[in-house]
Amino acid sequence: MQPSPTSDRRTPVSDHTVPPRVRPPASGRELLEPPFDEPPFDEPPVHHAPVRVADHQPEPRHGRPGAGEPRVLAVVDGPDAADYTDAADYVAHTATLRGVVRQRLVTRALIGHLPPAPARLLDIGGGNGVQALEFARRGYDVTVCEPDPRMLAETRRGLADAPESVRRRVELVQGDGRDAVHLVGTGWDATFCHGVIMFVPEPAPLLNVLVELTRPGGIISVVGKNGPALALRAGLQGRWRDTVALLGEPSFAKTTETTGPGRRPAVQLPPGDDPANVAAILTAAGTQPLAWYGIRTFTDHLGGSPPGPDVDAVVDAEWAAGARDPYRGIARLIHHVHRRTG
Ligand SMILES: C[S@@+](CC[C@H](N)C(=O)[O-])C[C@H]1O[C@@H](n2cnc3c(N)ncnc32)[C@H](O)[C@@H]1O
Repeated sequence: MQPSPTSDRRTPVSDHTVPPRVRPPASGRELLEPPFDEPPFDEPPVHHAPVRVADHQPEPRHGRPGAGEPRVLAVVDGPDAADYTDAADYVAHTATLRGVVRQRLVTRALIGHLPPAPARLLDIGGGNGVQALEFARRGYDVTVCEPDPRMLAETRRGLADAPESVRRRVELVQGDGRDAVHLVGTGWDATFCHGVIMFVPEPAPLLNVLVELTRPGGIISVVGKNGPALALRAGLQGRWRDTVALLGEPSFAKTTETTGPGRRPAVQLPPGDDPANVAAILTAAGTQPLAWYGIRTFTDHLGGSPPGPDVDAVVDAEWAAGARDPYRGIARLIHHVHRRTG
């Protein structure tokens, strides 16, 4: 069944058409795609204790971690891991057409699945707070759990321009998403984790935490890369050697590991970049898939182009494509929406 942007969004949909599973060999990963417009995020991991940075902070329901316990902020897992190099770069990215399309599609999908406001939303790795501000404006109470203090500073900057009624609905908590149960407690009506799983070496611990954080019946929203379609950007940009490499040429190595047409891209995908793997982990942790959407089918190759006057039409086109086959299967990012069952 297709997830429809306009009707029946709450009807569970089958994940059968999630792009076929692509397993990296146990020997490790070898990312062959050059970074090009996605420079490596090469900041070394930083260790520090979690810090609450908002004035109004609910008591965590599971206590705090031990004092002085080290925390890894962001794990770097190779080239092409990120759409940005630092917070300022990401802020710039969110203002591009690609950034705008991504954020607006995520918001639009979530509107169809979230309980009505006011509800308590948690944004793990909330970055510069685009979704937090968006949903606070819509009357939700939003907590951002984010390890990077520069990202939190950007969120604070955005909040400073917002009306008091919006500001008081957002709280910021500094810390790693994998520690979030201790930092912000459980029972959230919805938990977001958008564009974060590419920063952790193994997605399962983070995805399991997302489910634990969310109340039974609550919504889990995850955006990750669409690993099996990585060649599309290179092809549309005319980077033909990269395209061929990403498609697995010239060997067309046959593999028994895929359920697809028997070809594996030369890029050995991080497990977090395999949408089928992400959906399977969430489901095994106690969720049912509600819908999945493709993000950036038509615009992913446009680099840093700014949005033009036709931005609404672009978003509408991307939205329509992202909700249906075959287009969503070749989008750059996949947005998973699950409901916690138990
Ligand atoms: C590409 S940005 C996405 C920001 C935001 N979610 C969005 O969609 O605009 C990735 C964010 O993940 C954060 N991050 C990286 N590792 C993390 C972790 N282990 N736990 C929580 N957030 C993490 C980074 O600091 C960064 O703010």
